[in-house]
Amino acid sequence: MPSGVELIEGRTKLLVPEQHSSRGPGTRTADVFFNEQMAFGRDVTIMFLKALDKNGITAADAMSATGARAVRIANEVKDTIVVANDADPKAIPYIEHNISLNSLSNCTSSNKDLHVLFAESSFDYVDIDPFGTPVPFIQSAIRGCRKKGVIAITATDTAPLAGAQTGKCRRRYQSEPIRGYMCHESGLRILMCSIARELAKFDRGMKPLLSFYADHYFRTYVQVEEGAAATDRSLGQLGFMHYDPKTLERSVSEHCSKEHDKGPFWLGPLHDKKLLARMDAAGMEKEKRCAKMLALWKNELDEQTFLYDISELSSFTKMSPPKMEVLIEALNCAGKTTPTHMSPTSFKTELDAEEVISIYIRTSPDNKM
Ligand SMILES: C[S@@+](CC[C@H](N)C(=O)[O-])C[C@H]1O[C@@H](n2cnc3c(N)ncnc32)[C@H](O)[C@@H]1O
Repeated sequence: MPSGVELIEGRTKLLVPEQHSSRGPGTRTADVFFNEQMAFGRDVTIMFLKALDKNGITAADAMSATGARAVRIANEVKDTIVVANDADPKAIPYIEHNISLNSLSNCTSSNKDLHVLFAESSFDYVDIDPFGTPVPFIQSAIRGCRKKGVIAITATDTAPLAGAQTGKCRRRYQSEPIRGYMCHESGLRILMCSIARELAKFDRGMKPLLSFYADHYFRTYVQVEEGAAATDRSLGQLGFMHYDPKTLERSVSEHCSKEHDKGPFWLGPLHDKKLLARMDAAGMEKEKRCAKMLALWKNELDEQTFLYDISELSSFTKMSPPKMEVLIEALNCAGKTTPTHMSPTSFKTELDAEEVISIYIRTSPDNKM
């Protein structure tokens, strides 16, 4: 039996190494990786797969470590057949122990490099959860995903994606990232753009079902669509953003032309709102956080818009910020405006920068008129 501590996450018992990460991106404190903070991310997978509501779904958790996500799927989502795979032989005793701890007959362990796993077999749901960038694994994930299947991909290389390492982002993702208030939204959209471009090489398109930034990582769940028309539709959703620091104006375009253009990004929706409506936080390990995030995702504007931040408007106008609720309500009277899950001080709006700035000035406590 592998050594470690037993805990319960969601409705599932897990044995994990005693020395494990409890927050942050997770350091390799033990031979086999486990990060308690990722319980939220695993909760999202459970809520997502329950809401997909497909019978007999085959799932591959390709980078399983202790098997935490795979074993939770097999135990908490009915009618699933799950493979918990990891290339590291030290992970396998944990995976096998966790399968038997929950008396599961619908989960098997696998000790393969995922490139081999996905050359040999394909699945309805493919999960890629690497240390750092997923770029080296995306093509294999696509090969291992069945027709109309779903690929879920995590990226923890936030520094390049969010613009702190521009050169690395250019090399890895062939995109120009954005620093500052829009960095997380743009990082997520660069990851999604890169998945769409890889899928296109296989004549496959994508429909994002759920995409988010949390803690130290980006994660997206995309439905794979087959054929040239679907691929062209996907590629048609890629584009650039023009940002003018003198006016705060943001606009999107198909081609990169101006001095301040960034991208390319995925400019289509982040989520499928119908699927989100079926997702339920009840019984999740981080139930309160899941409920809060679900409410934000369901409500947020998620297409063709880039967020504004209240601190950005404060430093631009040199006026104190109004309360966030007051500002959003005032903006919403002029055009659809919503909070965003990216940051509690940011919002998304259909309004242009001039209107946003004028409403900010009107609602600022410094404005005595
Ligand atoms: C961040 S951990 C996964 C964490 C896990 N999904 C969880 O929720 O606890 C990444 C894992 O990927 C495995 N890995 C790295 N390269 C791999 C490859 N080419 N094929 C399969 N597994 C790989 C590592 O051994 C490690 O256990």
